[in-house]
Amino acid sequence: MERWKGRVALVTGASVGIGAAVARALVQHGMKVVGCARNVDKIEKLAAECQSAGYSGTLIPYKCDLSCEEDILSMFSAIKTLHRGVDVCINNAGLAHNEPLLSGKTDGWRNMIDVNVLALSICTREAYQSMKERNVDDGHIININSMGGHRVVPSADEHFYCATKYAVTALTEGLRQELREAKTHIRATCISPGIVETEFAFRHHNSDPEKAAAVYESIKCLKAQDIASAVTYVLGTPPHVQIGDVQMRPVEQVS
Ligand SMILES: NC(=O)c1ccc[n+]([C@@H]2O[C@H](COP(=O)([O-])OP(=O)(O)OC[C@H]3O[C@@H](n4cnc5c(N)ncnc54)[C@H](OP(=O)(O)O)[C@@H]3O)[C@@H](O)[C@H]2O)c1
Repeated sequence: MERWKGRVALVTGASVGIGAAVARALVQHGMKVVGCARNVDKIEKLAAECQSAGYSGTLIPYKCDLSCEEDILSMFSAIKTLHRGVDVCINNAGLAHNEPLLSGKTDGWRNMIDVNVLALSICTREAYQSMKERNVDDGHIININSMGGHRVVPSADEHFYCATKYAVTALTEGLRQELREAKTHIRATCISPGIVETEFAFRHHNSDPEKAAAVYESIKCLKAQDIASAVTYVLGTPPHVQIGDVQMRPVEQVS
């Protein structure tokens, strides 16, 4: 991770869960991290914690609703003005709504597409353009995918969500191919976790907190820090190593 000291990383969805753990880990490794989400107060609190812990990097909170393209473009423009550009982009923000294919609301589906697929693609494009205009040839784009991007879980609650994560699998490999065609050494990786104990299930089953709690009580789940460790592992590999996907489940997870 030594070579990333002082470099700029964008982490989307840095207010809680996996994104907060990833932002903290990168700041600990000396990176300048722009953390974005809607609940910017939580990122401000995390930034203060990183500072009092004496980490060598900094966390810069940025309020952004990723379902709105103008918000994303303004954020990239602010990063360009204040920090020159993005060297590492961690597309982490994502969510599931409980909207089955036979009865779900279109708004819920649209929000999943907007955040899980479109925002990830817009951030990827803008991060690449930022690297290109500064001749950054060693950047890295990491998508937080899911095991749901590799098999369809037999649960109507998750079918549309799985479809968005299958898209992330295709987008990560498509990105890798386009980066090769462009003859850059910028890397594209996705990390595909199974169940991680975060706010995710409580947001997913927001009308049924007991169901959400049961998800995390059923087995010993992954922790957000486990995913942050995978991120620093893939970032820390030598520049000629291109890791395509890291699939990781809790040992006790069956599906
Ligand atoms: N937890 C799991 O079991 C699990 C498993 C596999 C994959 N994943 C993936 O891991 C990623 C992170 O999930 P998590 O478990 O950390 O979930 P989480 O605790 O619910 O956190 C989700 C993050 O996404 C942000 N976000 C959601 N909608 C947003 C929007 N419109 N604009 C900006 N930020 C938005 C949230 O910030 P604000 O609400 O503050 O805006 C929050 O920081 C997701 O892509 C998820 O699909 C999670």
